Amino acid sequence: MLRTLLFLSLTAPVVAAEISFSRQIAPTLIDQCVECHRSGKAKGGYRLDTVECMLLPGDSKAAPVVPGRPDESELYRLVTTHDVDDRMPKKAEALPEKDTRLMREWIASGAKLDVADPKASLQAILNESVKISVPEKYPRPLPVTALALAPSGSTLACSGYFEATLWNVAAGKLQERVSGMPERILALAWITEGQLAVAGGTPGRSGEVWLVNPSLPQERRRLVGTRDCVLAMVASPDGRLLACGGADNQVRCFELPSGRLIWQSEPHADWIMGMAFSPDGHHIATASRDRTVKRIGAATGEVEATFTGHDCAVLSVAFTPDSAEIISGDAEGAILRCGRTGDAKSDASLRPAGRTEMLALGFLDAGTPLAATGGGAVVSIDAKARRTKDRITLYEDRVNVLLLLRTDKATRLVTGCHDGKVRINEIGKSEPVLQFVASPGW
Ligand code: HEC
Repeated sequence: MLRTLLFLSLTAPVVAAEISFSRQIAPTLIDQCVECHRSGKAKGGYRLDTVECMLLPGDSKAAPVVPGRPDESELYRLVTTHDVDDRMPKKAEALPEKDTRLMREWIASGAKLDVADPKASLQAILNESVKISVPEKYPRPLPVTALALAPSGSTLACSGYFEATLWNVAAGKLQERVSGMPERILALAWITEGQLAVAGGTPGRSGEVWLVNPSLPQERRRLVGTRDCVLAMVASPDGRLLACGGADNQVRCFELPSGRLIWQSEPHADWIMGMAFSPDGHHIATASRDRTVKRIGAATGEVEATFTGHDCAVLSVAFTPDSAEIISGDAEGAILRCGRTGDAKSDASLRPAGRTEMLALGFLDAGTPLAATGGGAVVSIDAKARRTKDRITLYEDRVNVLLLLRTDKATRLVTGCHDGKVRINEIGKSEPVLQFVASPGW
């Protein structure tokens, strides 16, 4: 049902192999520890931003890592102690058991370091290890889960495996590979030619948002690391705000180009599956697995309205072109219209529940909502008659992403599908003008 769970795995299953410090331990230290243990802010006299520092004792003089002996390792003792005042990460929830178990096994098996330069930052080590794992040619097409068009309209960014891939829109040819990105990319936003935001993570483990310059891929910044996948992300039309939400039920909003976090909140009781920015730039809409839709003030993070009425997980949202209303689509095929005022049941159903998930929504024009479905169709909705108006296209596999490419001459539909294909259609023609498998080597 949920697209994030339906991913094909490209890697062979991890057998009881050796634990990789750079891939399995370093990400936890980066996300949970480095903010308090780095140069300039070494709490307890202890730094964790490089491997070399990690092995040096802090104020207590107790060895942080004793190879082969987890119970004598101060680092392991502090992440597992039941004394909440002593436990690391300080003033936060304990690490999940799967992470402390990995640390235990890593130390017990000799605390081996698969690291070329112990003086390098943990983040650089992680980037390097992930880069190596990107296959030259994909063993099979990877489902497309996120797409973003460059402001110029000539390049399309696509979700890859530990990378974003950039494709020429006219020819469907691979232009660039931006590696060192999250394992699964679930949202992309192209803000200016030099700012591409990439979000995703590893389900159940970690989430990330990156800001990269596509023409200088080494020029990149990680805006945030989270406890679980980032599932949705949107930029304001003026490119000054970037908001993301995900499987930690949190919404975060960053100011651009600085990347500074301006607010963070937990508006939903379950995963945030879809997001939209209002065309006027004032509001953000969130769709959640908790069956509600919220309208949130973009400047403050305050919830302005809550819309109920869906009977199952809400997967997608879009604002009407005048920013006044929101439409929302759910996992059982219903599309509701959320009016101006909230805390009331969404006032109208645009499409009664059908069989298939509404994975992405958009507007062809003010009166014509579009929906991409789990059944492989892109349909337009007749809002007055409350039914599907036209089936614009029908493909073999679920349509995860829907974009509109507007030029002076025509409006084109760009779709990303579960079969790995990107297809570009002219409205009114069901055969794509261009289609390609957006996986390197295919
Ligand atoms: C919010 C800040 C914060 C975070 C996050 C944090 N720590 Fe700490 N850490 C501290 C403080 C403060 C001390 C000093 C001892 C104390 O106050 O308990 C400390 C002490 C330590 C020490 C003992 C140093 C010594 O020899 O005295 C270790 C080891 C340690 N932390 C590891 C970690 C690990 C591993 C993580 C991540 C899982 C982590 N810390 C996350 C604040 C933090």
